[in-house]
Amino acid sequence: MEVGPVCSISLALKWRRDVDRSAIAGISGGVEGKVTIVTGGGQGIGKEIAFRLSSFGAKIVVADINEERASEVGQLIAEREGAALSIGLDVSSQESVTHLISQTVEKFGGVDILVNNAGINKSTFIYEEVKEEEWDKIFAVNVKGVYFCTAAVIPIMKRQKGGRIINIGSGAGKTGAISGSAGIHYCASKAAVMCLTKSFARYLGPHGITVNAIAPGLVDTEMTKDWSALKERSAMNTPLGRITSPSDVANAVLFLASEASSFITGEILDVDGGLLMD
Ligand SMILES: NC(=O)c1ccc[n+]([C@@H]2O[C@H](COP(=O)([O-])OP(=O)(O)OC[C@H]3O[C@@H](n4cnc5c(N)ncnc54)[C@H](O)[C@@H]3O)[C@@H](O)[C@H]2O)c1
Repeated sequence: MEVGPVCSISLALKWRRDVDRSAIAGISGGVEGKVTIVTGGGQGIGKEIAFRLSSFGAKIVVADINEERASEVGQLIAEREGAALSIGLDVSSQESVTHLISQTVEKFGGVDILVNNAGINKSTFIYEEVKEEEWDKIFAVNVKGVYFCTAAVIPIMKRQKGGRIINIGSGAGKTGAISGSAGIHYCASKAAVMCLTKSFARYLGPHGITVNAIAPGLVDTEMTKDWSALKERSAMNTPLGRITSPSDVANAVLFLASEASSFITGEILDVDGGLLMD
């Protein structure tokens, strides 16, 4: 049968619609119904990540050392008809992480996506004046926390034959400390996060589990509330003309959690408007 012009146009339109639909599905596809833990989800970048993944149908576990804020975020998700569990968590305590995982499995039956977002930054910028206690605290949360949470989900993800682990690193882990910005201990901790990302990516690849990190530029959150001058300078040096927003980071997390990124692992993705271009 010959296809007339009207018919071929409608066929072409149908094909375009299918392509468009699959493109959209690619960006968020695979997230719906997935059990997602967001550490440090009570505010800032983590809160935005929790909202973004929830809006694409993920079941969210909002875990934060500040239980009240975690609960507020969980409630907001529930009000938008999303599935959420909020829980108090100290990522630097193995016991607390074990509790998080058992509560998550009890409520949702598994863990599909882990976003290691919880992190702290202390304000000692003078290189030779970082106190031992401060050094240990930063490494306990930013490095040990990522290790504990990742190690805890491995048996579950292995059993499920797949999973996504997304670590929130920082451009500071690549550049090293720059005078007047993040502390030298913070930068070193974020460099360690990149190493954990690559090590776990190699180890977990054969199990269908991808492990990636995001390296945001400066983001306007509670962590950086006193850094106005630095933010201005950073925006001026950024090709895209502004600093990173929590939403920029959340979009990158959505991509790394989706089917569209299924063959990407061990990658450190800059989300910084072209600031580093490394
Ligand atoms: N803000 C920036 O400029 C920037 C840039 C690059 C990377 N990052 C990274 O992004 C992540 C989020 O930072 P943010 O700017 O949203 O900071 P934030 O201080 O606004 O939020 C951090 C959240 O982590 C929680 N938290 C702190 N210690 C915890 C612990 N021991 N266990 C569980 N939760 C804990 C806090 O209560 C808070 O809710 C951090 O890993 C940070 O290092 C931030």
